[in-house]
Amino acid sequence: MEYTDTLAPLEIELQKVNALGGSMAVVVIPERYADKALTCKRGVDTAVRMNEYLVLGLFGTQADEASARFLSIPKGIAVYPQDGKEIQDLFFEALERLRFMGSSNWVKRLWDSIKEVKSLECKEDQESRFIAATFYQFLLFLTSHPNELKQVFTGLNASELSWVKDYIPYGFFSSPPTAQSISDEDIAALFNEWQYQEKMDVKLEKGKTTLRKFRNIEHLFTLPSISQEIIDLAGDSLVAASKMAGIIEKDPVLTSRILKVVNSAFYGFRRQIDSVEQAVVILGNDEVINLAFSIAIHKILDTITPERAEKLWEHCLVTAQISQWLGPFMGCTSKQLLYTVGLLHDFGKIVFLQRGYFVGGVQGPSSLEDLSTEETDSGISHAEMGAYVAERWNLPEAIVDALLSHHLPSKANDIGLAVTVHVADVIAHCGRIDLSLVNSAAVRFLSEKKGPALSQEKIAQTMEEIVSRVKVVLDT
Ligand SMILES: [Fe+2]
Ligand SMILES: [Fe+2]
Repeated sequence: MEYTDTLAPLEIELQKVNALGGSMAVVVIPERYADKALTCKRGVDTAVRMNEYLVLGLFGTQADEASARFLSIPKGIAVYPQDGKEIQDLFFEALERLRFMGSSNWVKRLWDSIKEVKSLECKEDQESRFIAATFYQFLLFLTSHPNELKQVFTGLNASELSWVKDYIPYGFFSSPPTAQSISDEDIAALFNEWQYQEKMDVKLEKGKTTLRKFRNIEHLFTLPSISQEIIDLAGDSLVAASKMAGIIEKDPVLTSRILKVVNSAFYGFRRQIDSVEQAVVILGNDEVINLAFSIAIHKILDTITPERAEKLWEHCLVTAQISQWLGPFMGCTSKQLLYTVGLLHDFGKIVFLQRGYFVGGVQGPSSLEDLSTEETDSGISHAEMGAYVAERWNLPEAIVDALLSHHLPSKANDIGLAVTVHVADVIAHCGRIDLSLVNSAAVRFLSEKKGPALSQEKIAQTMEEIVSRVKVVLDT
């Protein structure tokens, strides 16, 4: 009886709508937001108070319009005639939606932002993939509200939870949620105030501008032809030493640097190695290809190298070697692929540095804050920038994909490869696997795969060897 009486003014409106054959949105808003909501309503809208709610009837309105009118206010909306014909049914439907709004909205947005590449206006545009691949600002926002997010997570079942967790740093889950409960309405309000869509639009626009600026930097996208030939060689593990030497020897700088490296004290050969063919026979195809590729890529940087970029290049060389070592434990056997992805994983940072963009994580692995700041600055992170360059070089899709997802390995087509580089990155910076810096999905993958050889001592010993090998390459 109480409902009928209180909702009577809305019932009258509904009868009018019914007679005219139009629509009406019924909006339920928590009492504490009533004053704000009343300032947003039009003169023709009807408002009644029902217990702890304000209920509005919006004549001739659909859900999207009603939602836009009360932006930033938690609400549930039901629309006549599609959601119900009776005012009570519409009220309860809207109330139900308000109650579910808190968590479901967060989870849905999270899902949208990380799982799907948004379609931009221009679908055939290849650059969209790099502009819309991630939304680190949103992930940072989520993790900077740990209590709210953990509460949302407690309402999820195990399968829903597993994918959400995959996008959050592992350390995030090591502390339990606080006992204090936060209302769904407060969670929804927090989310609405963050203005997801507006921020996403700004990000997409900035990303487009950034790639437009980079698009015409000729020298950056002209991979020395020798590198392309080396990449082609890498696909053929049985290529003869003479054939490989023939290609490398076309480039005198490359040849002399390779010979310098293999004749350095590090390799400790008693006899002087005086031809590339001999180097290939002694060191093996993989080693020579990696060396040649690193030197060829570095040539692109020679003309444009601030000091911090040099540091990053050293980090990339170390990560490439660690990736190669770590790969087999993760089920990755292609040494060439591992090396190239490791070598190029932070290439985007080097490129950004050269153009004066913000770059985080030069001294340590990129945090969510770093990635988010890169995104705020240029619309994309260094992961997308590096993948974009790799695609422009026509490198294989496996490489582009791994570069794109090296900070969010769950997004990768080949998770093993992306996790390997993600973890190798942390080892290269810290000399050990610091789990607080590793993504949750990578931690899970690691615990499933790692063998006894991945002890802390083994990692430290391997690191030492790798760092001295890289020093030789850098010094020559
Ligand atoms: Fe990175
Ligand atoms: Fe890195």
